[in-house]
This record gives sequence, structure tokens and C-alpha cells, in this order.
Amino acid sequence: PTLRWTEPIPATRRRIIMFPMPFQGHINPMLQLANILHTQGFKITIIHTEYNSPNQSNYPHFTFKSFPDRFSEVINQLPVKDPSFYVKYLNSSSVDPFRNCLAGLLAEEPVTCLITDGGMYFTQAVADELKIPRLVLRTSSLGCGVAYGFLPVSSEKGYFDLPKDDYETSVPEYPLLKVKDIIKISTNPQGMIEFVTNMHNQMKASSGIIWNTFKELEESELQIICEDFPVPIFTLGPLLKYFSASSSSLIEQDRTVISWLDTQAPKSVIYVSFGSVVRITESEFQEMAHGLANTGLPFLWVVRPGVVSGSEWLESLPEKFLEIVGDKGCIVKWCPQQEVLAHPATGCFWTHNGWNSTLESICEGVPMVCSPCLADQPIIARYVCDVWKIGVLLENGFERVEIEMAIKRVMIDEEGDGIRKNIHCLKEKVDLSLTEGGSSHESLKNLDYDHLNLYS
Ligand code: UDX
Repeated sequence: PTLRWTEPIPATRRRIIMFPMPFQGHINPMLQLANILHTQGFKITIIHTEYNSPNQSNYPHFTFKSFPDRFSEVINQLPVKDPSFYVKYLNSSSVDPFRNCLAGLLAEEPVTCLITDGGMYFTQAVADELKIPRLVLRTSSLGCGVAYGFLPVSSEKGYFDLPKDDYETSVPEYPLLKVKDIIKISTNPQGMIEFVTNMHNQMKASSGIIWNTFKELEESELQIICEDFPVPIFTLGPLLKYFSASSSSLIEQDRTVISWLDTQAPKSVIYVSFGSVVRITESEFQEMAHGLANTGLPFLWVVRPGVVSGSEWLESLPEKFLEIVGDKGCIVKWCPQQEVLAHPATGCFWTHNGWNSTLESICEGVPMVCSPCLADQPIIARYVCDVWKIGVLLENGFERVEIEMAIKRVMIDEEGDGIRKNIHCLKEKVDLSLTEGGSSHESLKNLDYDHLNLYS
């Protein structure tokens, strides 16, 4: 998509300071947005924690400023299935160092605004104190924003405590979701509700929200959010269409996968990856392996070290697995995901439905098999399977027969044709939204000319 407007870029644009949440799924869209704004003529400073510090060598055109944190010591002690623990710690421990860092930068030169991740809600009070407008980047879907709004009532009505017999029941306030989806969001509902309430309140207190989505994908959710959040909303995504996620990868990407894909037939390969934070058990991992092997189809499997609780890497694979699958399987630690999805050999994406992975799949027209694990993922997976109808959900977790059947539904059965048709339709809508006059393109123009210029 084109980024330079027909009007000349003003010669003296001011600086924008950006602060991502220190996780891969949040750093990627923030740095993509930073690149977009830089192309529009803004100078960019990225404030970041030392934990998961971005790869600066890929961004010589930005200034980076870090503040010390103890997050790497703390992270391994926190329960991984409860994302609210991480964010609570980050939001309380970062206040003073972030304020000092920001105050120092503001003393150096004029700054247009601060853009911070929605999850870093503490930054609103700091921005108010230092009298600088704060824009929010929300890195998940609008549907997630709406569904998260129902978490307090879900807790009041006891949905989190319902027995297994009720798991398949639809949630009356949000019929798209089943009780089991709500339960999956977090093992600590109260912690999650506290986090979401803080995040949403501080988003409402901000000067505007940039949402990494596009209008045509979530039109009714956009309407609800616009009514609920009385600040300007910009839907200018998918940001990954402007700049790839590769340059902000925190882990080295194994590029040999591309030459392996080159040897495979068109649309024949199952690509499997569960993003940067999900962890699964040893038995779930083994079911995955059996399910994949039983399809008889070639697969490219990203097994991130640490993804299997208690394992370094591949120790938990079933006996003789690698010998049995032979050339049909390629297993790596991390890969250039966007390129893999864009490769003609990739036929489906077995994903955890992180929002970036989901958008990347939509943008390349690759249908999904969905295994959501926590947070926004169960909500996104419902949209993928039941609203947009571009994937198949593994309803019962990790079970080899169901895995094999779900993959075959997408890759081999007639049902897959319909799913592919739907995702191609969405892919076309993405492309249209990013062209001159399209919704995302217009939204970016509004942000740049009308909004950011107000501050300048
Ligand atoms: C987290 C949450 O899990 C997710 O639900 C939320 O929406 C964002 O934060 P993560 O789990 O890492 O993110 O998933 P996702 O949002 O999909 O982001 C993963 C990113 O890593 C993608 O941009 C993907 O391209 C990249 N990636 C993944 C690689 O570069 N290589 C890989 O091998 C796998």
C-alpha cells in the first residue's frame, strides 16, 4: 500500500515517543506503526524495558531509550496461564523509571504525542502529569474489546465457576462465545477483570485509540466500541501490510524453512505455530505430533523452546517420530512467519489465534485450524470459525483424532473450498481498505493530518 500522501510532507515534523508492551505480539505492531509514522515524516523515539528489548540494528532511523527493570527475574516465577500477573507487575514497577525517562526526553525537544500499548495503562497518568497527549495502540481485535467488556458481568453471573456440563452453553450476553471460551481467557478471572477494567478506563481517558484492525472486518464491533469509548478511534490496520513483522523478531528466524517449502507442492503444507507466549503440556504436544503424522500431509512445525512445559525442545516427541515422518516434517525453533504464510506451498495454518498471527493468515488468504489457549485467543478463534468462517476450531483441546479430522476438513474435504473462498474474500477486502479511498487508508490520513497535526 502507498504511504506517502499526494500532499508534500511538512519539512519540520516533531517527535513521537512510543512505548510497547515487552512481548513479541505487542512489539511487532508498535514498531510497524512507528515505521508508518516515520514514513509520514515524524521522528521516532522508542522507550522500552530492558526485558525483550527490540533489535535496534534493524531500526537505525529511530532513537531508543531503555529503562532498567527486573522483569526477566520475575517472569519465570509468574503463572503463565494468567496474563494479568505480567501486566500488573509491569504497570506497577514501571511507573517511576518510565516517568523519569519520558520527562528527560520532553526536556530535550518538543514532542507531538506519546503512543503506548493499551495494556500499559499506567502511562495515562504519567502523560497527564507531564501534560503530553497519549494515544493508545490496541494490538488485539475490536471483538476482543467488546467481549472483554462482558467479563465483569460474566464473573457476577458465575460463568467462570460453572461445571464442565455447562461448557458448551452460549453466554447470553455474548452468544458467539461459549462458557468454555470465557473460562479459557484466564485462570485468574478477578485479576483479568482488574486488568481489563484498568486498561479500558485509561483508554477512555486517552486522546485516541489506534486499533490494529480494519473496518470491513469488524463493522458492528467498531460501532459498539465507538459508542463505548468516547475518544477518536482509528482502524488503520492491518499494520503488517505496510512493514513485515520480521525486523522486530526477538528470536532469530530460521530461514532454511523457505527452501524446504520450495520443495513442496502448492497448498500442501500444514504450518503450525503457537506464537511467543503460549505453553502446552507434554501430553498435548504428543497428541499434536500424532495428529500431524496421521494426516499423512507435509508439515512445518515451529516448536519454540519452552513451549512444552518442562522440556527444552523436542525431548517429548513420541518415540521414532522424526524417523517415521522423515522428509514430510520440518521442525524449527522460530521462522519468518509472514513469509511462510505467503509461500505458495502453505495450505493451512494451525494457530493459537494470537491477533497478529490471525491477521497475517487473513492477509495471505491461508485458512486456519484453531487451538486458542488464553486471553484474547478464544474470542478471536470464535470470530475466525463462526463469524468469518475462515477456519475450523478444535473444540476439545488436543486430541489426535480430532486434530487429524480438523486438518483434513480444511486441507482435503469440500468444506475447505468454502473456507478458502471466504478467506480470499476477506483478503481482497484488506487490500481494498489499504488503497487510496479505502477505510484503513482514510483512517491513517485522519490520524496523521487531522489528529497528530492538532498537537503539533
Ligand atoms: C500475544 C498474545 O498471545 C496474543 O493473543 C495477543 O493478541 C498478542 O500478544 P503471541 O502469542 O506472540 O502474542 O501471538 P501473535 O499475536 O500471533 O504474535 C506472534 C508474532 O510472532 C507474529 O507477528 C508472528 O509473525 C511472529 N512469529 C511467530 C514469528 O516471527 N516467527 C514464528 O516462528 C512464530
